[in-house]
Amino acid sequence: MARDPAARWLEGLMGMASAEGVSRQTPHPDRRHPVSADAARLAFIRANTSLRPVPLCPEIALHVADEAFDLWFRTEEELAEDGLPPPFWAFAWAGGQALARYVLDHPGTVAGRTVLDLGTGSGLVGVAARRAGARQVTAADTDPWAATACRLNAEANAAEVNIVTEDLLDTTPQAETVLIGDLFYDRDVAGRLMAFLDRAAAAGSDVLIGDPGRTYLPKARLDQLAEFGVPTTRALEDAEIKRTAVWRMTDRA
Ligand SMILES: C[S@@+](CC[C@H](N)C(=O)[O-])C[C@H]1O[C@@H](n2cnc3c(N)ncnc32)[C@H](O)[C@@H]1O
Repeated sequence: MARDPAARWLEGLMGMASAEGVSRQTPHPDRRHPVSADAARLAFIRANTSLRPVPLCPEIALHVADEAFDLWFRTEEELAEDGLPPPFWAFAWAGGQALARYVLDHPGTVAGRTVLDLGTGSGLVGVAARRAGARQVTAADTDPWAATACRLNAEANAAEVNIVTEDLLDTTPQAETVLIGDLFYDRDVAGRLMAFLDRAAAAGSDVLIGDPGRTYLPKARLDQLAEFGVPTTRALEDAEIKRTAVWRMTDRA
């Protein structure tokens, strides 16, 4: 079976990093200078991305990059910050684009509701939810770079979004709608995510997922709501147009 492109891309980046002998021992500067680390991230993102409309959601603009590998190394070199995760925050992923499009076209999924966008990356899905009338949006990502990018992108789109960097996967979410854009590419995360989504559904949350069929997507538990051909980039994917679906989680065991 073909390997998942996102997993290959991620492993490729990781493999190249270790081949280059990158040290991952330096303490994270966040723990020493939280404010200046955020300011440095903000300046870096502004300098190394462009504000562009999202292909499938042109009413939203994001600070995005053209490539991933160089950007990843530049972040480590310029900020002397080793051990960074890949720059997921610098792209609008296929799953996020499809889910954002669906929410914008079906505002009833979020209007007047509290919404959690888990694994927000650039913030795209959370911004779309707020634009579609969500009462309150929480955008969660464990990568502090995503938090900074999400804040910048929310401001650029005049969308009010609360941003958290705690790992919420062992909690029970309180949001009325939980949105997941492209988060089923990693086995460990996917396992914890399913337990999290089961708790969310049991607590009454409506769970919507945008995903192009990544390796660990639990299709048997999902009902398909829509499908899109999402314009993406060969820097990330194996195709320029990626077929991507939006799903609702069911209570089927
Ligand atoms: C492929 S990106 C998708 C970003 C965005 N949803 C989109 O579709 O464009 C996956 C994101 O999930 C985040 N992530 C991974 N594990 C997470 C966790 N346990 N909690 C929150 N975010 C997580 C990563 O940092 C990354 O930003």
